[in-house]
Amino acid sequence: MSDHTNGSGANGAAANPDDRLVIRGLRVAPIASPEHEILQGIDLEVGPGEVHAIMGPNGSGKTTLAYALMGHPAYIVKGGSVTWRGRDILKLSADKRARLGMFLAFQYPTAIPGLSVASFIRSALNAKLQGIDKNPDIDPTDTIKGGVSMMDFRKKMRAKLALLKMDEAFAARYVNEGFSGGEKKRLEMLQMAMLEPQMAILDETDSGLDIDALRVVAEGVNAMLNPELGVLLITHYQRLLNYITPDVVHVLAQGRIVKSGGKDLALRLESEGYGPILREAGLAPDVPDEALLVPMGPDLGEPAAV
Ligand SMILES: Nc1ncnc2c1ncn2[C@@H]1O[C@H](COP(=O)(O)OP(=O)(O)OP(=O)(O)O)[C@@H](O)[C@H]1O
Ligand SMILES: [Mg+2]
Repeated sequence: MSDHTNGSGANGAAANPDDRLVIRGLRVAPIASPEHEILQGIDLEVGPGEVHAIMGPNGSGKTTLAYALMGHPAYIVKGGSVTWRGRDILKLSADKRARLGMFLAFQYPTAIPGLSVASFIRSALNAKLQGIDKNPDIDPTDTIKGGVSMMDFRKKMRAKLALLKMDEAFAARYVNEGFSGGEKKRLEMLQMAMLEPQMAILDETDSGLDIDALRVVAEGVNAMLNPELGVLLITHYQRLLNYITPDVVHVLAQGRIVKSGGKDLALRLESEGYGPILREAGLAPDVPDEALLVPMGPDLGEPAAV
């Protein structure tokens, strides 16, 4: 585990302890079945400038954690706390969390026919510019009152599209409508690049990407890393961590973080599967030891099964 999990950012500067995302004893259930806790007490801290990878078998609760942190209305927090930037995050609506600088890249992004990528991102950017308390002195539609001019927006968009090696025509297309799996993931990263969050939760951003796209997306993420940005990188596969180096790797299983370690933990998972680590944690695993070594399809996209 690296030094900068202890209160200083990756740049070594002393960080404000309030700027750490602190999750304590978080218990979460779906609203549809509130007695069934998917997350059964998550403890996790992510500081500015830190990259934390979360790995875990299918159904272990990774997406539920991402949704709970972002305030998805289909989940109910049964216990625990989440604080960040001096706020009780659990008291904030999803849009306030986003205005505060939290960002979620979806595992399964949704299509919004009729809404162009450019309009969508511009609206989000404008909303974020006003801040969590909707500063009345800032009018995002007015360049004199702190808004971004259309020209500057287009310039920024062009630069970020280039960073992610996306065709400029994407900006005019409808959000995720007819996008390939890889294009959807790139659009998530484009949103992140444009919104410049301080906490990014990336849920399986590598899934569905072929190896070249994976490299491009990972380079894009690396280019976005900065001492103010904390990253929760949810992934099944070690291969993403070949490109984005995590400070800490956590294993999530059966709704709990059962082990945390360095990058070597991900390598161990790749070679041994989850079985031995789950057994060490006293859990009876229902996954075979070689679970991670699954054959890839011809496009190196989604694995056949885990
Ligand atoms: N809204 C919901 N209603 C009922 N059950 C849910 C709901 N959301 C998640 N679950 C269940 O909670 C468990 C964890 O789901 P989750 O999507 O968080 O897993 P995951 O770790 O992200 O899996 P994967 O690796 O397949 O993406 C699963 O058994 C899932 O069916
Ligand atoms: Mg998931």
